[in-house]
Amino acid sequence: MKKRIAIFASGSGSNAQKIMEHFKYDGQAEVALILSNNPDAYVLQRADNFEVPTHVFDRHALYQTDEIVNLLAKLQIDLVVLAGFLWLVPQNLLDKYPNKIINIHPALLPAYGGKGMYGDRVHQAVLHAGEEESGITIHFVNEQFDEGEIIYQARFRIEPNDGLEVIKFKGQQLEHLHYPKVIENLLKRM
Ligand code: GRF
Repeated sequence: MKKRIAIFASGSGSNAQKIMEHFKYDGQAEVALILSNNPDAYVLQRADNFEVPTHVFDRHALYQTDEIVNLLAKLQIDLVVLAGFLWLVPQNLLDKYPNKIINIHPALLPAYGGKGMYGDRVHQAVLHAGEEESGITIHFVNEQFDEGEIIYQARFRIEPNDGLEVIKFKGQQLEHLHYPKVIENLLKRM
């Protein structure tokens, strides 16, 4: 049986899109579900385009019930992938998927991570600090924001004239290139 991936996303879902594209014709794994806390997230449209089922949930469902854990079990999900998901993962989910929940962060952790460090704020902090490089980090998820064990990092140079949009773009290119491959390699070892 193919390995089954669930993706959690709160927003646009460009990474989710690349992952769905990557596994669309794959014999080993498939994206079985997209979950979002945001009913207006564009990622839900992207999922529809790939005919991947979706599930929208609220805070109560995630933090006070076993609804999500039960749904993942029912769908026999092997790996949980966070792609622009902004809420902390609750303990019941961490317990059910030890070392099987991963996240992508648009900077070189452990720098520029933690609560509130998402989206443009990350890149702005990197620019403000005058860094000469930035990058992406793919890591296991634990009970803290951006603190689980690092699985993979990729870097890019920040040129003197690079502004927010440029470094955002450079980071996104790396995310789109590497996240699907890292997922594929992890699944091979599972
Ligand atoms: C990415 O930059 C990722 O690193 C961060 O959230 C962003 C999601 O972008 N965790 P998208 O929704 O996949 O386009």
